[in-house]
Amino acid sequence: MKIQPANRRLGILLSGRGSNFEAIADRIVSGTLDAEIGVVISNVESARGLERARVRGLNAVYIPSHNRSREEFDREAIDVLRKHNVSIVVLAGFMRILSSVFLEAFPDGILNIHPALLPSFPGADAQLKALEHGVKFSGCTVHFVNEALDGGPIILQAVVPVADDDTVETLSARILKEEHRIYSEAIELVLSGKCEIHGRRVVISSRGLRG
Ligand code: GRF
Repeated sequence: MKIQPANRRLGILLSGRGSNFEAIADRIVSGTLDAEIGVVISNVESARGLERARVRGLNAVYIPSHNRSREEFDREAIDVLRKHNVSIVVLAGFMRILSSVFLEAFPDGILNIHPALLPSFPGADAQLKALEHGVKFSGCTVHFVNEALDGGPIILQAVVPVADDDTVETLSARILKEEHRIYSEAIELVLSGKCEIHGRRVVISSRGLRG
């Protein structure tokens, strides 16, 4: 199935420092990513990413999640995203699981980035798990979001070597550099209608399995 978003407006969801959001915003400003950020939403009022969105003059909305059901939070987020006419939702360090209400509101329209080569090391502390397992290569993955945790069809991955003296901090920093590169590349592929989902596989039309 070909993915063809209705427009190039992104909705960013984040919970923390927001470096992936800022990398995407920088690429938009420099003209290397043809997109618009319709709104940045956070469930954490003090999130640095939310503050940075405000500084950049973007629409920045705090939606409290504490003591609320998943569905209640998700419905409010969907309303805000729709109000800003967003067609693709970009999870950028968003520390909440989305309910089926959200997934159904944006079918094949939600992207996530994970700091490991999925399906290895899903969930929290992926860089620590990679180190503890002793892998020689790790990396990052951009994928469509489905109901499985970090389990949706993979759009792009980047491989990062693991050094013998790596700590969580040094490995995370090396991976983050690649995250900042491939997230924008993946968003561009999706917005350009170059992605087709065939079961678990995402085929990219200009360099896909069938050329
Ligand atoms: C990144 O490592 C990302 O892969 C993971 O959460 C972290 C978010 O970092 N999903 P930032 O908030 O974008 O700086």
